[in-house]
Amino acid sequence: MMFRQTDSRKITRPLLLGVLGVFSALSCVGQEVSGQGLKDYYQSFFPIGVSVSPRVLKGEEAQLITSQFNSVTPENDMKMGVIHPRENEYNFRGADSIVAFALRNKMKIRGHTLCWHNQVPGWIFKDEKGDTVSKEVLLKRLKDHITTVVTRYKGKVYAWDVVNEVISDKKEEFYRNSAWLRICGPEFIEKAFTWAHEADPQAVLFYNDYNEINPAKRAKIIQMVKNLRAKGVPVQAIGLQAHWAVNEPSEDQLEETFADFAALQLPLQVTELDISVYPKEHEARERKASDADTSYSSEKENNQAEQYRRCFAIFRKYKTSLTGVTFWNLSDRHSWLDNFPVHGRKDYPLLFDRNFQPKKAFKEVVSF
Ligand code: GLA
Repeated sequence: MMFRQTDSRKITRPLLLGVLGVFSALSCVGQEVSGQGLKDYYQSFFPIGVSVSPRVLKGEEAQLITSQFNSVTPENDMKMGVIHPRENEYNFRGADSIVAFALRNKMKIRGHTLCWHNQVPGWIFKDEKGDTVSKEVLLKRLKDHITTVVTRYKGKVYAWDVVNEVISDKKEEFYRNSAWLRICGPEFIEKAFTWAHEADPQAVLFYNDYNEINPAKRAKIIQMVKNLRAKGVPVQAIGLQAHWAVNEPSEDQLEETFADFAALQLPLQVTELDISVYPKEHEARERKASDADTSYSSEKENNQAEQYRRCFAIFRKYKTSLTGVTFWNLSDRHSWLDNFPVHGRKDYPLLFDRNFQPKKAFKEVVSF
């Protein structure tokens, strides 16, 4: 790993300077001297992706992205709220720049996401008087949205998260109680897949959700996908978000999760992987006195490295089902977990540290 670990004690000073010069010419941000990035270690397994914003497509972060990954997902720029802010106005700027970057660097592009209850623009559920629209109007708007966005990136985006998070976390509830469901009933789900397929018959269409390691929620996801497929709806693959933590999932939970999904015999992807260094909490909450220690201690580092090792061992085991693993954010410099579940609590959930250097967890992921 990196020239930092070269044993310099036996090297005389002029020789050391020369050696360092050669090494720094050879090495670049986050890349091993050997030139191997994550994507290279996993070449015979699955593509390794990362979620990106237009901001990281320049400078050091861009270099880290292209040296380590062979797939990208726009973190926000294809979400309805960003790409379709007003009924007759699309904003393709961010999404276009990510797509152009990926094509320039011969990377795959996952589209994320066509229909979700969050980050939706206010106009979509309202008429000009501010009243809730009818099912017919909402479905027409959804069709226009999906057709426009999928057609624009046809042949470029190879896979779409068509529908995101429609299954409820509550035991007694099947579908999430969202505005989509209240206005349309569950029909919007099958329509979304059908329209995406019409717009780009080659794109692989995913249902994507989180907390897939919970047996009750997983059973509902599997049930829904089976029902839709039995009706001929083109749900072709399943995205497991994998927003995990040092203590969750356990080895057994991981194994059961993959065994259950693999039994569907559909392609699976890990679509939003990160491993928080804090014990898992599912709900947002206020910061408390006990949250004061946000240092990246060696205990946190070791626990995280071990959890990453466990996860990737399972991913490799299920390589015939798994067609991609995507990290949610690039490095510990910035992650959505810095503000969730506790606002302003620094987290360190990724394989690269705040200076873009590979962490202990990186080593565990590539040592096999
Ligand atoms: C969900 C969404 C992602 C992202 C994360 C949090 O998992 O699918 O797009 O918003 O929440 O960052």
